[in-house]
Amino acid sequence: MAVHKVTFLPLGRTVEVDDEKYPLADHGKPGSLLDIALANDIELEHNCGGSCACTTCHVIVKEGAENLSEMAGDEEDRLDMAEGLTIHSRLGCQAVVRGDVVVEIPKT
Ligand code: FES
Repeated sequence: MAVHKVTFLPLGRTVEVDDEKYPLADHGKPGSLLDIALANDIELEHNCGGSCACTTCHVIVKEGAENLSEMAGDEEDRLDMAEGLTIHSRLGCQAVVRGDVVVEIPKT
């Protein structure tokens, strides 16, 4: 069991998650940033329901990128279409939390 701290900006909310309890909500990969956000009433758009078919769950990783699951090819391809793409961008529904992270939810 491990507890991870996930901070969502610009809200400035930090939540603690226990990875033994994944999945927390039922959208996106179990333990993904989307899963964690929804389980904690943090708004993160997810038009496709968390299946890597839109880009509305786009987040920018500020700290702890190494504590997220590695990006798979389908996420990379989809992310290319995200508005405001940065080299620290991830899809919230695909990036699974395995350690402490700080992410920013960009304005849409
Ligand atoms: S919710 Fe659509 S790609 Fe993540």
